[in-house]
Amino acid sequence: MISKKNVSLKAFNTFGLEAKAGSFYNTRKREDLLEALKTIRSDNQKLTILGGGSNILLTRDIEGAVIKNSIPGKEILEETADFVKVKFGAGENWHECVLYALQNDWGGIENLSLIPGTMGAAPMQNIGAYGVEICNVFVELTALNIQTLQWEIFSKRDCNFGYRESVFKNTKKGQYIIVDVTLKLTKVNHTIDYSYGAISDVLKSEGIDKPTIQDVSNAVIQIRKSKLPDPKDIGNAGSFFKNPTIDKIDYEGLKAEFSSIPGYELPEDKVKVPAAWLIEQCGWKGTTKNKVGVHKNQALVLVNHGGGTGNELWELALEIQKSVADKFGIDLHPEVNII
Ligand code: EPU
Repeated sequence: MISKKNVSLKAFNTFGLEAKAGSFYNTRKREDLLEALKTIRSDNQKLTILGGGSNILLTRDIEGAVIKNSIPGKEILEETADFVKVKFGAGENWHECVLYALQNDWGGIENLSLIPGTMGAAPMQNIGAYGVEICNVFVELTALNIQTLQWEIFSKRDCNFGYRESVFKNTKKGQYIIVDVTLKLTKVNHTIDYSYGAISDVLKSEGIDKPTIQDVSNAVIQIRKSKLPDPKDIGNAGSFFKNPTIDKIDYEGLKAEFSSIPGYELPEDKVKVPAAWLIEQCGWKGTTKNKVGVHKNQALVLVNHGGGTGNELWELALEIQKSVADKFGIDLHPEVNII
């Protein structure tokens, strides 16, 4: 297993930020991963794990070692007349796995079409879009315990999934490397979820009243392309902040002052407010500062127009956070991992 020294990470993060890794290992096999970890440990290097690089903001060089997890694989573990359980390698590109499922007419992840990143990173933050989260189809994953070098299986319960959350972002942060993920997909009677306003609008405009999973995927791709910039053209990491949840009583207070504030009721007298709306109301949408800014079609997406730095983006994020807190009394929390 060969490592490279002083490697530019520009091509490995979707913000397209320049940062260097002290050493860089691209692992395609479990054995390579073990070997890399042993070397890194014996050299006493600090370790950072990279998936598709679509959810990180690099504000500095990474002094120690970076492992890019590229383990491939698609394996059917179990198949009945109704469902299929497929084990995917953590290095597989997420959207290609969605396309593979669609080619086979397997349902469950079509709403998650075109999300950048890898399979291994998907459960980390319980990726979600248009009413569906990966936890809905998740069976289990295998991860390498970095301390013990043992392979461990995590069930859905072990992962403790929440909104853009899992145990791997919280109590077990930095302790595991996910190597494969098993999903249960439907072969018949797909649960077709097009309740999300934007999807039903697209389907209606196309005269589709009994959509297939392929129709839903096409609609999602169309919506994402219209709102979210392609990292190949404009550096970005999707939504930068999470949508905040506030108490219903506070929401009602805000509604009295800002009558158009959107909100989605949650259990236990909570309301989820779209961060994009809050940011737009503070005047940030479409603005540019140096070479970074806020996307013109989606205020929740921070962008690098080219040549911007991670620190410029982070300063912009802090300014946005402050203005939202000053105007609405709501704290925004990044969804993206800050390094
Ligand atoms: N809105 C604005 N201004 C904007 C954009 C949106 O006011 O510029 C308001 C509108 O009221 C709109 C609402 O925000 O109805 C929701 O907007 P949208 O449907 O675009 O979704 P979002 O809440 O901004 C979330 C996810 C996205 C996911 C979409 C669709 C988070 C943090 N983000 O965005 O996920 O694709 O819903 O389900 O939950 C990601 O995580 O990187 C990501 C892109």
